[in-house]
Amino acid sequence: MSIIENINKLKKEKNAVILAHYYVRPEVQDIADYIGDSFYLSKVAAGLTEQTIVFCGVSFMGESAKMLSPGKTVLMPDLTADCPMAHMADAETIRKMRDTHEDLAVVCYINSTAELKQHSDVCVTSANAVKIVKALPNKNIFFIPDRNLAHYIAALVPEKHFIYNEGFCPTHERMQAEEVLRVKEEHPQALVLSHPECREEILKMSDYIGSTSGIINYAAQSEEKEFIICTEEGVSYKLQQDNPDKKFYFPETVPVCPNMKKNTLEKILHVLETGENEVHVSDKLRVNSVKPLERMLELAK
Ligand code: 13P
Ligand code: SF4
Repeated sequence: MSIIENINKLKKEKNAVILAHYYVRPEVQDIADYIGDSFYLSKVAAGLTEQTIVFCGVSFMGESAKMLSPGKTVLMPDLTADCPMAHMADAETIRKMRDTHEDLAVVCYINSTAELKQHSDVCVTSANAVKIVKALPNKNIFFIPDRNLAHYIAALVPEKHFIYNEGFCPTHERMQAEEVLRVKEEHPQALVLSHPECREEILKMSDYIGSTSGIINYAAQSEEKEFIICTEEGVSYKLQQDNPDKKFYFPETVPVCPNMKKNTLEKILHVLETGENEVHVSDKLRVNSVKPLERMLELAK
């Protein structure tokens, strides 16, 4: 039996479902039951009927799925697949901000640990951040952990006062504006589609800025035929599948998230066989850390 047949057999036997982010390897995307951006995956995780969720992504995604569905078994193919940015804020700074600013909302990008979420008022993803920040009653916004996403939202919601935190995604941060310009010189007609985790200089030269799903949908709906993609290269699989007649270019430093790539078919099979790598969130931590996630799902409706 092939590895794929084995995974599908075990999935049925164990009443399991596979969720995958667009940054994982093509063969893992192929085997997933649900694939999408982090907002879509959190919505899916909150409403599944299957007993076991195999989450092919990074820790904060598995952790969020467990918090939203505490009665389910959440397995991760590799427990070391973590998002470095998820740790780039701290509870002490949040406390200081609350002490020194009136009318403050702590807005937490979903790319954050459960520990950080429990000190936050609401979560957002790049797909819903503008809508949610606009809907908040508070004037002051302390946005953690990502500074690039924070600056992007702040420009679109000028009525709020933003306080920034110095977190960033190493994969997106490595991409340089000069590289994007070089690709643009080679393909002047190509549109630049970027994730808001990119540096401000890249966002300034972008024709579209959005989540991974946003980028994929934009490319499919556009009349244009060529695109420069400024986000993790995993999206190219879906982009090519959906648009065989279109061309997609990446900057010379092709953005690769090493943690997303830790998800492999062999590891999916292993966790389905053994039940290893279960995600645990203590009840004490969950009580407060799930609230900003639930508020996000409510405000994004
Ligand atoms: P999306 O919410 O756009 O899928 O992004 C998640 C992520 O980790 C981006 O680096
Ligand atoms: Fe985290 Fe960046 Fe990887 Fe997304 S691409 S999971 S933000 S390290």
